[in-house]
Amino acid sequence: MHSDQLVRTFVEYYEERGHRRITGSTLLPPPGDSVLFTTSGMHPLTPYLEGRPHPLGKRLVNVQRCLRTTDLDEVGDATHLTVFEMLGTWSLGDYEGPVSLDWGYGLLTEGLGVDPGLLHATAFAGDGRTGPDTASVELWQRLGVPVELTVEDNWWPNGSGGPVGPCGPDSEIFLWSGDGPPQSTPTRDDRWVEVWNHVTMTHRRLDDGSLVPLPQRNVDTGLGLERLASLLQGTSSVFECDVFEPWRRLVPALWTLEEPSLRLVCDHLRSAVVLFGDGVRPASTGQGYVLRRLLRRVLTVLRREDASHGIEDLPEELVGHSSDHFRQDMRPGDVLRMLREEEHRFDRLLERGRRVLTRPRFQGPLSEEDFHHLHDTHGLPRDLITGLREE
Ligand code: ALA
Repeated sequence: MHSDQLVRTFVEYYEERGHRRITGSTLLPPPGDSVLFTTSGMHPLTPYLEGRPHPLGKRLVNVQRCLRTTDLDEVGDATHLTVFEMLGTWSLGDYEGPVSLDWGYGLLTEGLGVDPGLLHATAFAGDGRTGPDTASVELWQRLGVPVELTVEDNWWPNGSGGPVGPCGPDSEIFLWSGDGPPQSTPTRDDRWVEVWNHVTMTHRRLDDGSLVPLPQRNVDTGLGLERLASLLQGTSSVFECDVFEPWRRLVPALWTLEEPSLRLVCDHLRSAVVLFGDGVRPASTGQGYVLRRLLRRVLTVLRREDASHGIEDLPEELVGHSSDHFRQDMRPGDVLRMLREEEHRFDRLLERGRRVLTRPRFQGPLSEEDFHHLHDTHGLPRDLITGLREE
């Protein structure tokens, strides 16, 4: 099933169940949100999860682009991406978690043809503050889906130490990606791939870590589009599903890369293009620094393979493909110019770094003070210094 068809099937299924489609936002969260980027479909909806009535009602569905920097070190494996799309549904003080799980199960099995025998669920086991999620466990038992209980992995966001804002127990749906019959459980075997998270948002976490009940109980779900598309299309990683088609075709023709590096380069360049399209520019702090880091990582990987490699050769078609997909209206030529400028800035920094690091003071092991000095006086970030010393 093509990813466009998957999105259509998802949205129509929820529209038939009374949900209204809302337009996805950019990667930049609304003012006042404590996160740097939209990391989940719920961010733009925070005020409504906290009780403000939404103009389109209590049942919503959308497709939201997200960016996660927490997964940067995992990019290159079969399932992690920096920028990805999340298919989301919400009940704003309307139906409860088990209804959401029941519909989710129906869509996966009947709507999308997933074999029910390949599903596994997890649910919240309860902790000192909040009881176990027995309603979800009973629903899974009724549907005949095995369910594993955890504490930290089934509280969203991020277990007991999460950020401020709406939160609550979640029940996650996993799909078996192994060749043989399903084995073991999601926490013990990573061939169980998490595809869909259903959070019952019951609380708000305050600055001091305490939890207060929300004025209404909500359901917030998020399904990773590329992950499910890749499982439905039977590809061995998200990078081989149709979403990455032009990247898989054009990037290997430009640069000879091993598979994990190829994945990283495609992921980071595509993410950078989307960030440019949402108005982010390379900078030394905040959102711009994330963009800069993505590009510098790409350059470091490319140069490791061949010192003459650079990103200025990126075909316009790839930039155009991303802007069409995410409905952004920048000109590919402008993005390529900014990529070139950033590459030249990086080259100048590398030159300076190589020169400075030949000084006698920096020949032995570097102290924290040396790292600070190199950063504050010469503008050399730690990872770049480490890379140069390994050359
Ligand atoms: N907000 C939930 C998540 O991102 C659905 O997993």
